[in-house]
Amino acid sequence: MTSSSALSADLPLSFPEKLLAWYDRHHRELPWRVSPAAAKAGGRADPYRVWLSEVMLQQTTVQAVKPYFAKFLALWPKVTDLAAAPAEDVMAAWAGLGYYARARNLKKCAEAVAAEHQGIFPDTEEGLRALPGIGDYTSAAVAAIAFNRRAAVMDGNVERVISRLYAIDAPLPGSKPLMKAKVADLTPADRPGDFAQAMMDLGATICTPKRPACTLCPFREDCLAFAKHDPERFPVKAAKKERPVRMGAAFVAVTPEGEVLLRRRIESGLLGGMTEVPTTAWTARLDGGTSPNHAPFPADWQACGTVVHVFTHFELRLSVFRTRTEKIEANNGWWEPVTNLEAQALPTVMKKVIAEAIPRAFEKLPN
Ligand code: ADE
Repeated sequence: MTSSSALSADLPLSFPEKLLAWYDRHHRELPWRVSPAAAKAGGRADPYRVWLSEVMLQQTTVQAVKPYFAKFLALWPKVTDLAAAPAEDVMAAWAGLGYYARARNLKKCAEAVAAEHQGIFPDTEEGLRALPGIGDYTSAAVAAIAFNRRAAVMDGNVERVISRLYAIDAPLPGSKPLMKAKVADLTPADRPGDFAQAMMDLGATICTPKRPACTLCPFREDCLAFAKHDPERFPVKAAKKERPVRMGAAFVAVTPEGEVLLRRRIESGLLGGMTEVPTTAWTARLDGGTSPNHAPFPADWQACGTVVHVFTHFELRLSVFRTRTEKIEANNGWWEPVTNLEAQALPTVMKKVIAEAIPRAFEKLPN
């Protein structure tokens, strides 16, 4: 199916035309967006804002992204500002959003745009794809949304909508190429960016994973999953392997002056370059590394609870120990005032660990 922009024709509207008309009325107002009315009047979304939001939105909800997006724009209004920022500041501003490789790649990409493209994003899918850290999804999304290129944009929301429209029985992830071909087929030449965002909004607001609002959906007559009376069955997913469990111990040492011992993780690997309290290795064995015998220095370590944190590929269970101690020399670490923890590049799992040991650590203190 292809679209025509002749909305006045007598023919029934095609799916893309109907979807765009729905988007004109029901789009979400989001800080990185230009409204459809403004876009029709010639307004264009800023490629930097579109790129930043798309990187942040991968694996993260719109609600969670909004404050981070605002913070990044306030700190670094242009891509060249982000390129010039110290990496530690970018990691600290990203802390809590998860998938920290994204933040490292974000910085690398900004540096490449600044150094190799005079601070101006390439305006094609291929040009964007050549930048560090930009994959198929981000290059298509930025090309369509910021540059009005006819690129097929497929994220989780779009997969759900497409799999239901066509009642695709083949399971994900194997069915991705088929779904992408359907999206490419449907994407219109005239408003490809709005089409992509309309698919996302439909997926986020009506065609939801559980209990989709089919009675409100203007596309139910087009939808084969609705015709089969079982939209929730789609997208079909290959059976998941159970997530393995890893165990470890984390050690929160606090001085009488209220400082906590922190260190930096090595640059590569999970949570690379982020800040942590000392921990043991995180192992799949249930027998090792979870007692105070593995603490960074001998002290009166008190068990104060367990933190469970789910990463994509494993579940981590950390036994948390705390001690009050004099400020011993911190080889390869530093002592940070508890009142300044918010400003550190602490991933969520580490905030949970510290909050287990110091329950009020992340409460905002009155001025
Ligand atoms: N999720 C990812 N990108 C999005 C966008 N541009 N609009 C709404 N939701 C999104």
